[in-house]
Amino acid sequence: MRIAVMGTGRVGGTLGRRWAQTGHSIVFGTRDPASEKVQALLREAGPHACAASLAEAVAAADIVVLATPWPATQAALRSAGDLSGKILLDATNPIKDGALDVGHTASGSEQVAAWAPGARVVKALNTTGAGNMANPDYGGQRPTMFLCGDDAEAKALVTELIDALGFEALDSGPLSAARYLEPLAMLWVALVRGQGLGPDIAFKLLRR
Ligand SMILES: NC(=O)c1ccc[n+]([C@@H]2O[C@H](COP(=O)([O-])OP(=O)(O)OC[C@H]3O[C@@H](n4cnc5c(N)ncnc54)[C@H](OP(=O)(O)O)[C@@H]3O)[C@@H](O)[C@H]2O)c1
Repeated sequence: MRIAVMGTGRVGGTLGRRWAQTGHSIVFGTRDPASEKVQALLREAGPHACAASLAEAVAAADIVVLATPWPATQAALRSAGDLSGKILLDATNPIKDGALDVGHTASGSEQVAAWAPGARVVKALNTTGAGNMANPDYGGQRPTMFLCGDDAEAKALVTELIDALGFEALDSGPLSAARYLEPLAMLWVALVRGQGLGPDIAFKLLRR
């Protein structure tokens, strides 16, 4: 799959590097492809990764991963151009000044869908930290990775990408379920920082 990753920070850099190392073709969409930060990331990611402007990266991709700070997300999507028909994996959390900026009767992902008309938006990879994206192994146990969206084929492809990282993907319903997944991300942050548990924690759904 040709994957564009918008954002080369903790989340975008980690996800792009890991998928490139498993043989996926990655184009990092970045404000500055020539920057030393991006060049160092490309060296780590290996031969399946390259960098381009947001618009160039997205134009060539089947799947676009959104990993930008929430306050920059609308502008980044505008710079990316036409996303109609593309699968848009939204890993953002709509955090502004340390709190959720959207909620209860709306979600960041529904807002993203409005900003990117025609994109097949799937919310995923927002309920854990970048360290877990780099290494999700918990003594042989796979953390649960919740995803949601309105397009079954898009969710199936995102499920493959999540499983390839080492998580157990769990379809959590339509895109409006992002209203629950975004507060769940805040719980993860509250446990890590507020309760001092540190970033080596992950959610796991138990069944019987
Ligand atoms: N950190 C986590 O553990 C974590 C976990 C789950 C979800 N998230 C969510 O994922 C998203 C990305 O988080 P992150 O921690 O990866 O952020 P980050 O480390 O700050 O990286 C964000 C990247 O977005 C790009 N960007 C585009 N416009 C920007 C702007 N105006 N200002 C700053 N950066 C801009 C930058 O890449 P270029 O410089 O290459 O353009 C930057 O490296 C956020 O919405 C966050 O809530 C984070």
